[in-house]
Amino acid sequence: MDCLRIVGGQRLSGKVSLSGAKNAALPLLFAGLLTDKKLQFENIPNLSDIHTTLRLLEGVGAEVEFNELKKTVSVFCPAVTSCEAPYDLVRTMRASILILAPLLARVGEARVSLPGGCAIGARPVDLHLMALEALGATFNLENGYVHGTLKSGGFLGSEIHFPFPSVGATETALMACAAATGTSVIHNAAREPEITDLSMLLVSMGAKIEGMGSSKLTITGAKLRPTKAHRVIPDRIEAATYLMAGLITGGNVSAEITGEFLTSVLSVLRDAGAQVSETQDHCIEVANRGGLSPVKITTAPFPGFPTDVQAQLMALLTQAEGHSEIEETIFENRFMHVPELIRLGARLRIRGNHVDVEGPSALQGAIVMATDLRASASLIIAALAAKGETKIRRIYHLDRGYEDLHLKLKSLGAEVYREREN
Ligand code: EPZ
Repeated sequence: MDCLRIVGGQRLSGKVSLSGAKNAALPLLFAGLLTDKKLQFENIPNLSDIHTTLRLLEGVGAEVEFNELKKTVSVFCPAVTSCEAPYDLVRTMRASILILAPLLARVGEARVSLPGGCAIGARPVDLHLMALEALGATFNLENGYVHGTLKSGGFLGSEIHFPFPSVGATETALMACAAATGTSVIHNAAREPEITDLSMLLVSMGAKIEGMGSSKLTITGAKLRPTKAHRVIPDRIEAATYLMAGLITGGNVSAEITGEFLTSVLSVLRDAGAQVSETQDHCIEVANRGGLSPVKITTAPFPGFPTDVQAQLMALLTQAEGHSEIEETIFENRFMHVPELIRLGARLRIRGNHVDVEGPSALQGAIVMATDLRASASLIIAALAAKGETKIRRIYHLDRGYEDLHLKLKSLGAEVYREREN
């Protein structure tokens, strides 16, 4: 099992090269099943979740090719040979549920293992099923699998009302509506940039989508076929992670990403006293010259403060002068990083779905354990500011969402080593 060893105290500076967004790439690849022609993708990150997705696609009959050097992927599914997504793959990646809609659209049947919970919560799929039932699908739950069927006419356009702007369920609904006969409207759709990236692919394949970026999407379905290669947007969560790593070390780091992907994050960083600027070469640059001030934030669906950056901000705020508060409203158990940050010397207190952060706290290196993807990132940020050496175990969690993380940190000046720990 690999671990990361970080010696704290180095100031990070420079421009980090961002990878393609994991949470955009996953639905895009599943959308490759919506046509029997070959789809080409560019800027696909080399992550374990991507490999899991490619295994799932191969399992239903797709030919996939991943050129890890060029970061290109092709998905070609001339015929679906199985409509099953097996438990052993689905249990490793919740987003596997995104295979449900394209399988139903292609062959009118799908058997997808229920994902089961994960470190950050129960994570049901009821909104995915509700959306597809509105379009004509029927579901049974059998032996831990969702078994869906669709009449031979395929999905029929309809109205879908989400009680909560679920990212995954919006992606499921979008793929089904794009393949449906007629027009659909999705109300209270999620507005994340990754949703817009998927919408752009579906439009390039022949669907009509109005309201991109808004919470009301009107989709007219079509027989979908690929056109030019689709380039995945940069990863805004990765960008936020490295910008905060720069700030906690008193450095200045930049990333080539549009500010509109990070509006709420940049606003919070400014409130915390960071200098935030957009450079001529379309980069966001942050610097921490005068120390950090405490802030109070609540996570929310886009364009609110992203839950995927909550753990990283918590690590940063351990160095702010005073009392900060973080409220998590998206997942019911996303404070797994708290006990590990406390082991590094952070002064944190959980109150229900709030965490109080007292700062600044003198962090000291220790052996800590990663529990989920973003919790691992928060431990890295804290370790960069800790006195002495920190060893982070179970970093397979990191490999799910951060490409070449230790190399990118090294390029910014961190003293970090990826080692095999027997
Ligand atoms: C996506 O997960 C992201 N994953 C998550 O990123 C991200 O944290 C989340 O959106 C919120 O932004 C991918 O895109 C692959 P949701 P998803 O459906 O689609 C409840 C990371 O670290 N819910 O918006 O699962 C659910 O339980 C990952 O990169 C239902 O109740 O998020 C949760 O409490 C972690 N029923 C809330 O909604 C449903 O059918 C948000 O879930 C679906 C979701």
